[in-house]
Amino acid sequence: MDVQISHSDAAKYAHCIKASKAVRWDIDADVIKGRTFDVGRKYLPDGLSLGREFTGLSPEEKRFVSQIQGRTYANIFGLVERFITAKLLEVGRDHWLGDQNALEALVRFSDEELKHQTLFRRIEKMMADTLPPGYRFAPDPNAVARAVLSKSTWSVLLLTLHIELFVQNHYRQSIEPDAALSGLFKDVFLFHWKDEVQHVVIDELELRRHDAGLTKEERNKAVDDFIALVAAVDGILQMQAKADTSYFIANCGRTVMLQEAELIEKQFLKAYRWQYIFSGTQHPRFQQILKSMIKEPQLHRISLALATLQ
Ligand SMILES: [Fe+2]
Ligand SMILES: [Fe+2]
Repeated sequence: MDVQISHSDAAKYAHCIKASKAVRWDIDADVIKGRTFDVGRKYLPDGLSLGREFTGLSPEEKRFVSQIQGRTYANIFGLVERFITAKLLEVGRDHWLGDQNALEALVRFSDEELKHQTLFRRIEKMMADTLPPGYRFAPDPNAVARAVLSKSTWSVLLLTLHIELFVQNHYRQSIEPDAALSGLFKDVFLFHWKDEVQHVVIDELELRRHDAGLTKEERNKAVDDFIALVAAVDGILQMQAKADTSYFIANCGRTVMLQEAELIEKQFLKAYRWQYIFSGTQHPRFQQILKSMIKEPQLHRISLALATLQ
């Protein structure tokens, strides 16, 4: 407990508190503002849903794909934010009797993630009201969180950094001018991003602090844990791509033959891998931080594992 942190790190935690206070938002007053989802609009932008790549589908069907993916987006975030909150509360323990700005920054981080979970639960229900019944989200957030938290802290913090960095990419996709996009979903991206900007700074501080205390062997083992976590994320994405394809076929209003169904499932999986894996691992900041902590053979192991998902 009561770890010592450098002056420059202390200043970063203090800055995160200031920024967190400045952007503080409310789910109803700032994000939802009494609005509902308009089923005539896309929920996820094309840059995330890869809507244009579903080439065999009509514009209405592509819109339906973006709505299914929007619902899955809310569910995936509800899931990942469960273990992120738990891990950050755990590492926050190191600051209990140390730098009180670091402690406050982590408490705020956790509080914001709890708010995000509430927001995503709310919008998931709101989207459900606009879509036909039968949608299924298979993974249980608590079971996934328990499995993730059983891995080393380094690997969980690295996965968290990766997730919070890709939220920034997702926000950029959502601000592309697109009149067909849901205004409410656009604001979900905007307000989520406002908090994640600070979270990324804290992730890096906590990850580097933790990394400094590891032996070479522990770090090497943590790299394997990270690869296992990415594979577990991919397992969830494969399962959900299958479920979402079945739901699409059951509700698109026409008969879809097996060959086309397989193609649609492939496209769903490609979009999910882009959203939840590659938009993070390809982020320049992620690459930079990773390279500063691990050696070439370890980087190579991660690249090989990622290449199997292409
Ligand atoms: Fe979040
Ligand atoms: Fe976050």
